[in-house]
Amino acid sequence: MPAVVVTNHGGDVPDFEGKITIYVIICVFIAAFGGLMFGYDIGISGGVTSMDDFLKKFFMNVYEKKKHVHENNYCKYNDALLQLFTSSLYIAALLASFVASRLCTKMGRKPTMQIASIFFMVGVGLQAGGINIVMIVCGRIMLGIGVGFANQAVPLFLSELAPAKMRGALNICFQLFITIGILAAGIINYFTSKVHPHGWRISLGLAIVPAVILLIGSFAICETPTSLIERKNLDEGKATLKKIRGTEDVIPEFESIVAASEMARQVKNPFSKLMKPSSRPPLIIAILLQVFQQFTGINAIMFYAPVLFQTVGFGSNASLLSTVITGLVNVFSTLVSIYTVDWAGRRILLLEACVQMFLTQTVVGLILLIDLKTTGSLNHVEAVIVVVLVCIFVMGFAWSWGPLGWLIPSETFPLETRTAGFAFAVSSNMLFTFIIAQAFLSMLCHMRAGIFFFFAAWILVMGLFTLFFVPETKGVPIDSMVEKVWKQHWFWKRYMVDADDEEIKEQVHPHVK
Ligand code: BGC
Repeated sequence: MPAVVVTNHGGDVPDFEGKITIYVIICVFIAAFGGLMFGYDIGISGGVTSMDDFLKKFFMNVYEKKKHVHENNYCKYNDALLQLFTSSLYIAALLASFVASRLCTKMGRKPTMQIASIFFMVGVGLQAGGINIVMIVCGRIMLGIGVGFANQAVPLFLSELAPAKMRGALNICFQLFITIGILAAGIINYFTSKVHPHGWRISLGLAIVPAVILLIGSFAICETPTSLIERKNLDEGKATLKKIRGTEDVIPEFESIVAASEMARQVKNPFSKLMKPSSRPPLIIAILLQVFQQFTGINAIMFYAPVLFQTVGFGSNASLLSTVITGLVNVFSTLVSIYTVDWAGRRILLLEACVQMFLTQTVVGLILLIDLKTTGSLNHVEAVIVVVLVCIFVMGFAWSWGPLGWLIPSETFPLETRTAGFAFAVSSNMLFTFIIAQAFLSMLCHMRAGIFFFFAAWILVMGLFTLFFVPETKGVPIDSMVEKVWKQHWFWKRYMVDADDEEIKEQVHPHVK
């Protein structure tokens, strides 16, 4: 019999047998390289687009504008084509995530990761060997497909592989590797910017490393028991469960996955099931967490930190170096969430970070408003204060909205809508990353310091949303969320009363929506 623990939702939750095994750690480590591909890409673009050799080859007009840098502080790099370079990846990833969701269900999480790495490698080849803008943009589209596939499969893989008590920590390895990718990119850009005229090719080409590791490593990892059982490979599912839990006593967990997958099989069209009221709570939360994640303004910093730091008055070398500093803060602060998420819980991290991010965005806005005019720069002390504030902001994001934006959507959908629902999370991330990447430089140009108040206002809204609508999910088994979380929540439970009715109608009249 499974032991029983009491959750903070007042329900009894079976505590399945099993410990964390070396094999699970190896699987987590390899799959997380999908996060490194994504992070490397986020981090590399800003640095590459500030390298003169790259600009001269593909964006001559931006290069010309940059030479008159002192004309206008806030508008120096505002160029639609350059922004398209950065953001084309995200549109490709957005569309790819829906295809990837089907693949994840039909073929499994592991083949989806393998396909991701192959697309990514093709993209890297096109970019590093790029001789014209068409090759460069096609390369980015390939990378985007790779990212869309990986971001769909990896977080689900990690959440399904992990025992409930450690799901948060293991899932956050995905975000940890994103941050390592961003940092590695910052360091590499720092050195390659001194290599003329092909340093940018080295920067873009090194993205191949995580993709190769993911592809080769994927042959050593297992499929998740959930995906195996969902696709009727019951024996293999049970054997895998024993292997990853390091115990023979897996019957209760096995049975709960079998029950979840039988429910899932009755749902013929997960996307139409997602539109039913009972799917609303996890769907709304998954989408909003990703939208809010982007409206913190994090990617204004991740993509454009070198530009931003040049704007406040650092030379281009010092700017790249400051990017490395924010990258380090990002990695180490993510470790904080790995240690805290499964005992302190998700909500406290999200709420605390809102306070921290709101204050830092507001103060940066005030400093720029008062002292950064269209020409000239901040004095040295003020510029350093801005970098410190940016670091405190990144710290808050890194232990909360960064990892939890991926964790919570991967753990809150029931199996029947999990891959479809998660595709909405991935695509919302991509869409809003695209919007920020595309719009940030223009917004900086038009709103100037006001852009920081704009982000601060969003942070206020998301704090209130979290307070009232984001439930605590720590320690709840992934296939018990409906009973233990949604049906217990003061607001969302109203959408759950009809859940059982919907099941019955679906079985009796499968075509009636
Ligand atoms: C976000 C990215 C962001 C990164 C920063 C991720 O969770 O999805 O958009 O750049 O965190 O570490």
